[in-house]
Amino acid sequence: MYKLSAIREPVVIHKGLDNVYVKESRICYIDGEASKLFYRGYSIEELASHSTFEETTYLLIYGWLPTHSQLDQITRQLELHRTLEPQFLDLIRKFPAKSDPMDVLRTAVSALALYDPQPMTDDITDKTDKALAILAKVPTIIAAFHRLRTGNNPIPPKGNLSHAAEFLYMLTGRDPDPYDAHVMDVALILHAEHEMNASTFACTVTASTLADMYSVLTSGIGTLRGPLHGGANEAALKTVLEVGNPGNAESYVVDALAHKRRIMGFGHRVYKTWDPRYLILKKLAGELAQKKNQAKLFDTAVAIETSARKHLEGTTIFPNVDSYSGIVFHMLGIETDLFTPIFAMSRISGWTAHAIEYLEANRLIRPKALYVGKLGLPYTPIETRSGKAPE
Ligand code: CMC
Repeated sequence: MYKLSAIREPVVIHKGLDNVYVKESRICYIDGEASKLFYRGYSIEELASHSTFEETTYLLIYGWLPTHSQLDQITRQLELHRTLEPQFLDLIRKFPAKSDPMDVLRTAVSALALYDPQPMTDDITDKTDKALAILAKVPTIIAAFHRLRTGNNPIPPKGNLSHAAEFLYMLTGRDPDPYDAHVMDVALILHAEHEMNASTFACTVTASTLADMYSVLTSGIGTLRGPLHGGANEAALKTVLEVGNPGNAESYVVDALAHKRRIMGFGHRVYKTWDPRYLILKKLAGELAQKKNQAKLFDTAVAIETSARKHLEGTTIFPNVDSYSGIVFHMLGIETDLFTPIFAMSRISGWTAHAIEYLEANRLIRPKALYVGKLGLPYTPIETRSGKAPE
């Protein structure tokens, strides 16, 4: 009988891959103890105050802040690819109206490969261009599906609007309020990148097999979908709506913690203090609430936060980006199930930057699993099998 050969080195299992480094990177730095986040060396506060999503995308993917002509070039590239081909729109028309928009987005990004005569390429510039073409189309896909499922015709991009404003325009057919477009732009900047999170790692694994960029970005979308990652923004808003008013916040928090339920929009694997993105979004949420007469919603969120922090005092569980992003999107008039697709729409920049950076010194990602099962079991005829795992 075959015997398990002795393992020579002591095996350490890094469940959840906590503190495992998979590459060197120049893209993003997070100091989770000091509430700091930098994209390519620039602080998130500076980028949120002065940059645009297009510029931040350029910065993340190419590594430096673009000149006028470089910014014009990426802006034109996005404009050129934003429109969906009629046959691709026909495909979206066939999706069941009740589909979850994240399922639609995952399927649609994967399907874009079918309309690319040469999806596979080893050339890094070609890969980057393909990723930017996908990035350009994602808001159009999300908006088109939303319009179709609500019985409306998709609206083609207007042209000459920012990526953020085009998205709002394609959702409603109306020129967005400039402040709303600004808030969406900042939200896209804040979600664009976050080092080696689960979805970025998934993209990196797929890229390391030399797969095409459609596969790379589809992996990211699938991974972002889960409620512990991208899906938390929807859950956090649902909590605020369910709690309903500030007076109910304390009892909600006490009950949730007593029953070991997580407060959505709280806690983070890396931040052990305030998430700097949360601080920026909370300010925007407060401003939007005033503008849109949504004080009760905002005050309820603040009351949940205050109560949760009181009961979680002494822990490292602080509000994260998702505690106010959902509220911001809700106040912009966006359906709750579009929040995670918006996260994906923004994070494609970071996914692309990491996939390309990894490919520049590629090594197939292939970790190991420690085998703890049985070996050498005799093959038994079907009639004599117990239907259970062997003892
Ligand atoms: N509410 C209450 N308790 C919590 C929470 C929370 N939101 N988050 C963590 N804890 C507790 C958890 O129950 C555990 O307690 P115990 O040790 O008694 O079992 C302890 O904190 C450690 O939890 P963990 O899951 O091992 O910690 P983690 O580092 O893996 O957690 C997390 C990270 C994001 C999965 C978790 O905080 C969570 O589930 N939060 C709610 C979902 C959420 O807001 N996700 C968005 C993350 S930010 C966006 C993104 O990066 O995608």
